[in-house]
Amino acid sequence: MKKKQRQELQTVITVKTKGNAPYDIVLKDSFDGLPEYLTGLGCPGHRICIVTDSNIAPLYLEEVRAAVSGCAAQVETFAFAAGEASKTLDTVRQIYEKLILAGFDRKDYLLALGGGVVGDITGFAAATFLRGIRFIQVPTTLLSQIDSSVGGKTGVDFDQYKNMVGAFHQPAHVYINVSVLRTLPEEQFASGMGELLKYGISLDADFYEWAIDHMGELEEREPEALTWAVSQCCQLKRYIVEKDPTDLGDRALLNFGHTVGHAIEKLKNFELQHGACVALGYVAAAYISWKRGLLDEDEFYEIRDMNVGFGLPISFDGLSSEDVVAATKKDKKMEAGHIKFILLKKLGRAFIDTSVSEQEMLEAVRFLNADEA
Ligand code: GLY
Repeated sequence: MKKKQRQELQTVITVKTKGNAPYDIVLKDSFDGLPEYLTGLGCPGHRICIVTDSNIAPLYLEEVRAAVSGCAAQVETFAFAAGEASKTLDTVRQIYEKLILAGFDRKDYLLALGGGVVGDITGFAAATFLRGIRFIQVPTTLLSQIDSSVGGKTGVDFDQYKNMVGAFHQPAHVYINVSVLRTLPEEQFASGMGELLKYGISLDADFYEWAIDHMGELEEREPEALTWAVSQCCQLKRYIVEKDPTDLGDRALLNFGHTVGHAIEKLKNFELQHGACVALGYVAAAYISWKRGLLDEDEFYEIRDMNVGFGLPISFDGLSSEDVVAATKKDKKMEAGHIKFILLKKLGRAFIDTSVSEQEMLEAVRFLNADEA
């Protein structure tokens, strides 16, 4: 995307959608601005149900409920047990039940207060209740602020299949309070950094260099650096999802690092954070790019070694490399039997490749495998 557009801090980023109204992503340092935006959306006179989880409820639910109560006819809350295990149709069923008992109609709203799991479940409930009601994203993790709250992917896991049931349903608004990142547990913050660096390495070399130059401020969670970084990522995501809202083309570029990353995440039974697995996955992708002569050796090692400074892994253990490669084949990112692998043409320029061989992948995974090094 045009660099010129992103030289100044943007705290309001408008995302155009095909067939729906555009929506704003707003960056703030508190929840104080929420009533103004909800009023602007037309919430007064309508009901809002805040959906959150057991981690976020004690931290922010009361504050958000208080902010919202002045600009809605009725505020309901629903909190479920935090964690991926709750990302099921049964949790969605419980939300429907809550909405039906509270008399919600098609003009009422859901508000997702939490990380990716909360956003995905709430979005899916909003997509399907009464054939679709509006919902607002208030993401509280770095990962959800820069990725999952934007672009309208909603859904739940089904049996052992992650995100197997879902719908595209665009939020009416994304309200990002960057200050909540200060209470984010260390490993979740590092996980978000994995996705943040992914944007730079795959889509914007200048942003990647900026992140390296500002590693100290980012790791100290300085508001100015975080606001800039979140804004840059949201703009990159906006650029991709406006071009390809339903993931039929370039949106796959956002999956840089996800093929090998998802395989490791799954084989580790989701004990490693998503962004940490993505960080391993993008090292594998960069390795293949280097071996194909697309990246210099120095560039490859910079990508790998920078993970350390951001609290991200550069190796894994306890898994066989063959199992990791076999697991990539069960991923959703397949097209006519070929894996849609995202490689680098150069730093900051990713492309989709369907010719990565099993041998290339195995070599890259072995490079990461501490047990086989
Ligand atoms: N998180 C990848 C996407 O939104 O397509």
